[in-house]
Amino acid sequence: MSLKAVVGAVLLLALASRSLGAVTVTPASADTDPYVTTPRYNKFPWAFTADYSFVFSVSPAWKQPINPSSWSGVPVLPGFLPGSPGMLALLRYTESPIGEYSELFYVPGSFVNPLCGEKALSSIYRIWVDSKYSQRAGRNIWGIPKELATFDWKETNSGMAVTVKDAAGKVFLRLNTTQFPLPDPLTTAATSIARRFVGDCLTTIQWPIDDLTGRSTLAGQVSAYKVAEQCYAAKPPLPIKLDVCFQLKGGVLAKVDAAFMDPVTFTGHKNKLLVAPLGYQLPMNMNATLGQPIAVKCWV
Ligand SMILES: *[C@@H]1O[C@H](CO)[C@@H](O)[C@H](O)[C@H]1NC(C)=O
Ligand SMILES: *[C@@H]1O[C@H](CO)[C@@H](O)[C@H](O)[C@H]1NC(C)=O
Repeated sequence: MSLKAVVGAVLLLALASRSLGAVTVTPASADTDPYVTTPRYNKFPWAFTADYSFVFSVSPAWKQPINPSSWSGVPVLPGFLPGSPGMLALLRYTESPIGEYSELFYVPGSFVNPLCGEKALSSIYRIWVDSKYSQRAGRNIWGIPKELATFDWKETNSGMAVTVKDAAGKVFLRLNTTQFPLPDPLTTAATSIARRFVGDCLTTIQWPIDDLTGRSTLAGQVSAYKVAEQCYAAKPPLPIKLDVCFQLKGGVLAKVDAAFMDPVTFTGHKNKLLVAPLGYQLPMNMNATLGQPIAVKCWV
């Protein structure tokens, strides 16, 4: 999950919230999940390696706070920064506790809410993966509203062309990039600027998912689910806080040659989303971690 990277003044960060109505997802069956009963589920942080990982800034983000949850009675998270830049991240994991998979996520802006913690906060509002195991773990352990999609990654002469389709086969994201390795001193400078904005970790707030999608019948035996269950039980439900860390040690600029983001898919409204012309590609075989979920109370 990704982080926000920023290069120079062009790129930024973001964070925000989720909501949205019904999502169509394929329930996972506990019987077919080879990992659900293993200790791997309970060991935090989860560690990942990605061979491709891109971060782009997206604008405009939300103009006003949105209710972060589709549950009625959940307060709007205070502290939203209007116009704060959104972030789009695209990753292809080669190693993780639930195997290889691809991921795309959208963070629509930033929150600063001292009740939730001192750091600027993100919220992963829309996220797609091509692994039902990842979908289930994300939804049930961290409250990350993962949906399923199909990813097509094509290496081109100059970079990467990625197409993402929803379950109905509709293309809702297309991104063609050219990568620009920079001379070392510039890479070092760009990385340190990015780190100043992003740090090494993105702190995100998620709401436990208000459906049973992919819920394992074994969930009660897996302690990793306990935080989510505690959040479900509270009235109104509590958000889950976690750190998504990317160890920003380098990377290259990624020039965006072509970008298409279907705005309705990402935000539910038709206002055009613009991808910044320059993004950031993190180092090959980058390591990432997903921290232990904790329940927080972001309102009095
Ligand atoms: C993006 O890349 C794909 C694969 O190389 C290519 O077929 C397509 O024409 C490119 N699209 C644009 C708009 O450059
Ligand atoms: C990720 O971790 C592996 C194993 O510890 C290490 O070999 C590799 O160099 C790391 N990758 C990066 C980009 O730091």
